Amino acid sequence: MTVYGIGLGPGDPSLLTLRGKDLLEAVSTVYTPGRLSRAVVSEHVSDDRLGSLSFPMTRDPETLRTAWKDAADSIAPQARREDVAFVTLGDPNVYSTFGHLRRTLEAFHPEIDVEVVPGVSAVTAFTSALGIELTSTTGLTLCEAANGPIPTTVPQLLLFKLLDVPTVHEQLSAANYDVLYGRRLFMESGPTVVTDDPTELADRDYYTLAFARKRSFESSPATAAFSETHEVADG
Ligand SMILES: C[S@@+](CC[C@H](N)C(=O)[O-])C[C@H]1O[C@@H](n2cnc3c(N)ncnc32)[C@H](O)[C@@H]1O
Repeated sequence: MTVYGIGLGPGDPSLLTLRGKDLLEAVSTVYTPGRLSRAVVSEHVSDDRLGSLSFPMTRDPETLRTAWKDAADSIAPQARREDVAFVTLGDPNVYSTFGHLRRTLEAFHPEIDVEVVPGVSAVTAFTSALGIELTSTTGLTLCEAANGPIPTTVPQLLLFKLLDVPTVHEQLSAANYDVLYGRRLFMESGPTVVTDDPTELADRDYYTLAFARKRSFESSPATAAFSETHEVADG
């Protein structure tokens, strides 16, 4: 049978995909890795079908391997008999806990099929929430602020796992970026904050990201852009 990795979207239960919703209704048990994903999925799945798995907040590889092996071993006997799901916020293949489970199942329980159902990722949802349009000609570099040095030569950056906004803001300003921050975007457990003022986000909240654009950035005009003076067609 199959373990479905289902993306829940950024946190508003109405941003789950139709395919994700259908599968959540079809599987026997839906496993959640944390409190927030559980709150979102509870809008679609009754409590008696929810299973929880706990994972240590650590970077220690040995502790992580043990935790994921235990999780895979506890899901596997059931997944041999029936379909189950494991949900993550956003998309299961974007900086997500699901990757650990998939790799562990492949290594220790290769007879179990794994299928990923994409979700609306914060990687794309931030554009709507922050009012940013990404046009075709300029790249966007994606990285985790909490994981090593931030690249400061690229034209546009999207930073995840932004825990220390004031310090990162200093670094980015010094490297000539304008920065816009988003916290708890499309999340029911808000408050949602969109701001360019780092002092509003001095407290730590894991669900914070930043979009940074070089002050020298010049976007190419979009294909269907109009000049300032154009005639408005009648009727
Ligand atoms: C481990 S990553 C998971 C990403 C998720 N799988 C996705 O596709 O959106 C978590 C980071 O994504 C960002 N993030 C995810 N959802 C967010 C939201 N609703 N609002 C703001 N940032 C979010 C935050 O920077 C957070 O630290």
